[in-house]
Amino acid sequence: MIPSELRDFAQNFKQQSGLLEFEFAIILGSGLASVVEYFEKIHSVPYSEIPGFTKSRVKGHSGRLSVCRYGQRTGLIFEGRLHYYEGLPMRKVVAPVMLAYLLGVKKLLITNASGGVNPSFRVGDIMLVEDHINLMGDCPLRGENDDNLGPRFTDMSAAYSNKLNQLLRSIATEKGIHLHSGVYAGVRGPAFETPAEYRYIRIIGADAVGMSTVPEVIMARYLGMEVCCLSVITDLGIEGQVEEVSHDMVLEAARKSSDKVAALYGELIEKMQQEPVRA
Ligand code: HPA
Repeated sequence: MIPSELRDFAQNFKQQSGLLEFEFAIILGSGLASVVEYFEKIHSVPYSEIPGFTKSRVKGHSGRLSVCRYGQRTGLIFEGRLHYYEGLPMRKVVAPVMLAYLLGVKKLLITNASGGVNPSFRVGDIMLVEDHINLMGDCPLRGENDDNLGPRFTDMSAAYSNKLNQLLRSIATEKGIHLHSGVYAGVRGPAFETPAEYRYIRIIGADAVGMSTVPEVIMARYLGMEVCCLSVITDLGIEGQVEEVSHDMVLEAARKSSDKVAALYGELIEKMQQEPVRA
């Protein structure tokens, strides 16, 4: 399931960066590119040089993999993600997760921009994702399974790490950052939702809706990684408050909250427990 060219790339990447261990990987979503500026960048490769990665043509996604340091910790930052709505098959969408796995990463820290459907949410708020609903009609694990990588049927009963979420909640309290918790509904896009669709998404139990993350989380859980996700509310799909939305509005709202996302993940990286390196 993991292309051999990606395995070869991972081997070379380890050698080039001179590092054997990457303690975390962050995936940056729409408008959150500046999060990388809070980290010390020590090595960087454009997506065009990574097999199976297509440079995102979506504005707000730079398309670079960087090795970054925060305090004593070193990890990867995927500056830009690959989206299902770009026409890519699910297995291509999750190539960054596969690469993180090949590089030994055990903790995947995801970010995204989403529309809030919980009536208590405001634009610019941050939601800690506790669970998700897959409305994409597809799964990256569809097709032949490689039993050496993971099970045919992946458990999703605790997809988002309770441990990481608890830590993020306490960090948010310390820093005075208000953090909602809730359920993320993943849709295909690329059209935004109609008011009726936002209402439906709320009724079925979601607090926010976006066009990413779900495939990445499924693949990460399949590969045994611990996952957390911060979602920036960039627009509202709340009954009676649905307004016109554009990608530029999403980017701008996410950009304004990127400081908070960087502060939360920076501190999480410093505080999270170090895991033994996988053999
Ligand atoms: N819907 C779907 N995806 C999104 C939204 C939205 O309202 N906002 C940001 N990504």
